[in-house]
Amino acid sequence: MNMNNIGVITSGGDVPGLNAALHAIVLTSSKRNIKVIGINDGYDGLIDGHFIELDFQKVRDIMDEGGTIIRTSRSKRFHESKWRKKGFENLKRADINGLLVIGGNGSLKGAEIFCRQFDFPVIGIPKTIDNDVYGTDYSLGFDTAVNTIIEAIDKIKDTADSTSRIFIVEVMGRKAGFLALHSGIAIAANAIIIPEVKPDTEKLLASIEHNWRIGNRAMIIVITENSIPEGGLGLKKIIDSKFPEFESRVTILGHIQRGGSPSAFDRTLASLLAYHATLALLKGRKNVMVGFLNGKIKFIPLADVGWKTHETDTLLMKIANEFSLLM
Ligand code: F6P
Repeated sequence: MNMNNIGVITSGGDVPGLNAALHAIVLTSSKRNIKVIGINDGYDGLIDGHFIELDFQKVRDIMDEGGTIIRTSRSKRFHESKWRKKGFENLKRADINGLLVIGGNGSLKGAEIFCRQFDFPVIGIPKTIDNDVYGTDYSLGFDTAVNTIIEAIDKIKDTADSTSRIFIVEVMGRKAGFLALHSGIAIAANAIIIPEVKPDTEKLLASIEHNWRIGNRAMIIVITENSIPEGGLGLKKIIDSKFPEFESRVTILGHIQRGGSPSAFDRTLASLLAYHATLALLKGRKNVMVGFLNGKIKFIPLADVGWKTHETDTLLMKIANEFSLLM
């Protein structure tokens, strides 16, 4: 198919680095006289035909901005064939010949179904602070989120040290422990709890008791949401019932982890992935995701991406085990 217009969608949760990716897509395309159409509001905007041309003027100054200038959504309608068909018809009407989908697991799964259903060229670009997309070592937004967590916990540590309290810091991740593992090691946490490892509360309580006895009364425990029932708050109940004399607090970092200016790593990763995804689409590739694996650009079939998981970082797991951090 002859490519003259390509569309781009940001779908699912926003992450820092999406605007940097849009910047690279527009630069790569305009050099080749290809027009880029931004599809506003993720798959919902595809269904509703909310399209806007992205030219150099629109993207020239967005590299350092978090969020996404074309906004995003978690579209429920896109799960249904009739709405996907409406989206396909909108693309045809706008003379868009290929699509770049910047998304996480759910969005890339949707991209694969769309591509298969209409034989329409789609290339995926991985983004999620959870870093759980299969086929890439890093997804856009993860590095910035880890840095945001570290910055927040460094501040919490001042309070923990001054008040000799136990701080339980709950981080995002959905079902993946990358954020907790990376940030926990980087801030020298006393314990890390992630969904991939069955929690051993006896071991955790023994470690808290030991720390207390030797005078390390300020403690930081990093826990992934969903690791145990009620997450950080559930963990506080367990600790408080065993040690009512200790003071503990829970900080749920929440959506601050998704905002902010992208880190240097996320800006360069966004540029790299978006550049290669755009070139691949223009060369006629489809139904693949561009990944960054072992320092190289790789194309992974979307059929694999949506249905497989990115295994937790075994190198870091090894260190965390060695330091007796995983509980
Ligand atoms: O997938 C990214 C993520 O931030 C998860 O870590 C978190 O569980 C979820 O999205 C929150 O989603 P929402 O912003 O829709 O509440």
